[in-house]
Amino acid sequence: MAQLEHGDGFETLAIHAGQEPDPLTGAVVPPIYQVSTYKQDGVGGVRGGTRSAADHGGVATGPGRWVEGYEYSRTANPTRGALEECLAALEGGVRALAFASGMAAEDCLIRTICRPGDHVLIPHDAYGGTFRLFDKVHVHWGVTYHPVPVSDPESVRAAATAFNPALIWVETPTNPLLSIADIAALAQIAHASGALLAVDNTFASPYLQQPLALGADAVIHSTTKYLGGHSDVVGGAVVVADAGLAERLAFLQNAAGSAGAPFDAWLTLRGVKTLAVRMDRHCDNGAQVAMFLANHSRVAQVYYPGLADHPGHEVAAKQMRGFGGMVSFRHADGEAAAVRMCGRTRLFTLGESLGGVESLIEHPAKMTHASAAGSPLEVPADLVRLSVGIENCADLIEDLREALG
Ligand SMILES: Cc1ncc(COP(=O)(O)O)c(C=O)c1O
Repeated sequence: MAQLEHGDGFETLAIHAGQEPDPLTGAVVPPIYQVSTYKQDGVGGVRGGTRSAADHGGVATGPGRWVEGYEYSRTANPTRGALEECLAALEGGVRALAFASGMAAEDCLIRTICRPGDHVLIPHDAYGGTFRLFDKVHVHWGVTYHPVPVSDPESVRAAATAFNPALIWVETPTNPLLSIADIAALAQIAHASGALLAVDNTFASPYLQQPLALGADAVIHSTTKYLGGHSDVVGGAVVVADAGLAERLAFLQNAAGSAGAPFDAWLTLRGVKTLAVRMDRHCDNGAQVAMFLANHSRVAQVYYPGLADHPGHEVAAKQMRGFGGMVSFRHADGEAAAVRMCGRTRLFTLGESLGGVESLIEHPAKMTHASAAGSPLEVPADLVRLSVGIENCADLIEDLREALG
């Protein structure tokens, strides 16, 4: 059994946390427990006595965690539990919950915290699906949202005073404009106004940024992206610092049934093991691509927090280990040229999503952010978003050079 010690590094936790060899067979990775229900010792008594996985935060911990305490896989499943334990360790939280998608994770967090009449501050630059969830779904249950520039703490403070929000929702870096929010500053503002701070850490991943250590109350992930890393699974997670909030989230996750499937948890865990080495390469390639674009005559503006002239560069350097692999830019020749370029690359695949080993290109206004059209979150029509993968970087730059023409 992997004996983890306090102070073990990120790479060690990614490979061993929640992933001790299976006590039944010695299998060195958690098996896919493709099962819905579990034999119980007696009526009202789960296998292993009274030690229900649900009672232990949905994850059976300690010796026998694979073989005891389960009753039904919507409530807890050993493979999902392994992923949850690993994600909690990587984000430095008390507990993680794994969901069927990033949107399911967001929905569970919002409905756990907010009640009709509550207000939420959201970024004025954010993933289109997040905006749609507030704008088209939760609004019908009486939760009101207010877009604010989260890269400007004073604007957030003023909005917090004006609206007295239950929740401040932040993405950093944002999707697709790579704005940077100062997590520590926003945590102070949130707590001073009685709100919780949730940070969508999808673009950074826990390898580059750990919001709970900076004062956030909850971290959200689309594990579909860097955590999974191979564009082969959709999933989400919430990681929290407070056991009471974790209990309430687990209650709703079980009650509403939004947990992720065992095979999806297994695939995600397989991706997580290599997160650190992948992210290092994503950062290197992202920086080189951003520099190339910044010096290209057909590019009007580059959004990458690693560039010294990015307005959030200093805050990003303070709170992130590296600047990531997401790069957006505005095409100097306008919307039509931006759209045309997205169809002309050889290695960058035209597609939504991000964070996989392969490079992707997309046109946010017509694709990922179409749902924000006409709203304060509308994105520029000449914007192109790149998810820079871990291919040979010279090949990637050549591909972009040819597509830009
Ligand atoms: C920043 C961000 N958060 C959340 C989501 C939603 O995640 P999922 O697609 O896994 O539901 C996405 C999806 O692209 C995203 O980019």
